[in-house]
Amino acid sequence: MFSKNIKTFTFLFSSSTKSARCCERDFIRKMSLSPNKDERPKITPLKESRRFMIDCLKAVGAQQKHAEIVADNLLEADHRGHYSHGMNRLENYINDVEKGFSVANATPTIEKETTATAVVNANNGFGAVSGQFCMDLAIKKAEEAGIGIVTSHNANHYGIAGIYCLQALKKGLIGFSCTNTSPLMVPTRAKKAALGTNPIALGVPGLQGDDFLLDFATTAVAVGKIEIQQRKHQPIPEGWALNENGRVETDSTKAFAASRLLPLGGVEKTSGYKGYGLGMLVEIFCGILSGSSYGPNIRSWTNPNAKANLGHCFMALDPKAFAEGVEERMSDLMNTIRNMEPVDPSLPVLVHGDAERNHMEKVQKLGGLSYVYNQHETNKRLAERLNVAPMQSI
Ligand SMILES: NC(=O)c1ccc[n+]([C@@H]2O[C@H](COP(=O)([O-])OP(=O)(O)OC[C@H]3O[C@@H](n4cnc5c(N)ncnc54)[C@H](O)[C@@H]3O)[C@@H](O)[C@H]2O)c1
Repeated sequence: MFSKNIKTFTFLFSSSTKSARCCERDFIRKMSLSPNKDERPKITPLKESRRFMIDCLKAVGAQQKHAEIVADNLLEADHRGHYSHGMNRLENYINDVEKGFSVANATPTIEKETTATAVVNANNGFGAVSGQFCMDLAIKKAEEAGIGIVTSHNANHYGIAGIYCLQALKKGLIGFSCTNTSPLMVPTRAKKAALGTNPIALGVPGLQGDDFLLDFATTAVAVGKIEIQQRKHQPIPEGWALNENGRVETDSTKAFAASRLLPLGGVEKTSGYKGYGLGMLVEIFCGILSGSSYGPNIRSWTNPNAKANLGHCFMALDPKAFAEGVEERMSDLMNTIRNMEPVDPSLPVLVHGDAERNHMEKVQKLGGLSYVYNQHETNKRLAERLNVAPMQSI
């Protein structure tokens, strides 16, 4: 999966140099902020990052195949620039297995099925393993019926939602995925969190390997972004989160501790109720349809004391079941938008998925990933604790 993606994206990079330039500044900024401020950024080759994650997962009992699926999932997030949902999540997965909250080698089972739908019991295994299984099933159904919708319960954190859309895109299908998560989003006018960051992803194929890939949390940001700011000892912008008193907070440590994220849109005045509505939409496709835990009933994210029992949803749609020329129109729309005159000529207009392609291009150029300093420290502790070879970076 990993090497195939590199080939696909190498092709795409060569066709998107304009947008690549635009994100260079942002990327360099992120890179320079990422490690210990006194040192040059350390670069970790993708292969070495993958090796380290597989070793750690196997050390807590995961079979080779499951360890590879989870490592590839986390690596893909890092590669695409979503460091909050890559290796940053490894320790949580390991802790859950060690504490008996999740099961390292569980395989999912289909509980209920029609031609186009299914309900899957993830059997409390790794989210990446059940996620890949469910999207494969949705793809099979879409190839037969034009559409496949699969929901799963008894599931765990499944990484970046977009990864499952990539699975559908590789088959020339439209992919959709979303997941509920531990309560972190404060509904508009409420004081406490009741919904998760509940990400949504939609992938639509264009021509010649180009695609649209929208993938984001329905909170103003994913909580991992606040965690990364905290790891870097940096503040957060206004509009991301509230503090214990229900007031807007910019201190990343206080915001991370309070875990009260604002919905996409922010406060009521800036239409935060729209993001709150999207969070409800995700909860309906995930918790309500699958029978998993939902809303405030989901376990706490910062202090887990029970299994997660998350709900996931996966959809695949065959463009051939709709009007002829979906890919042509999609490419036309994307390129029309990309070619619009930007306000700042050095910042071309992007479509969803371009930012990640640009990040992957830079990773290839640099020869690896740039983890924040604290990630390297976490890895050192993990390597010692699990008795695996430490991750080597240059
Ligand atoms: N599993 C979980 O529990 C969980 C929870 C929350 C988030 N996540 C994942 O975390 C990742 C990050 O989420 P996020 O909300 O921080 O995402 P984000 O705010 O970084 O937004 C990412 C999306 O916006 C697009 N984008 C970025 N800049 C753009 C621009 N200038 N023009 C057009 N499009 C642009 C990207 O291509 C991508 O589709 C996602 O992959 C999400 O699935 C997972």
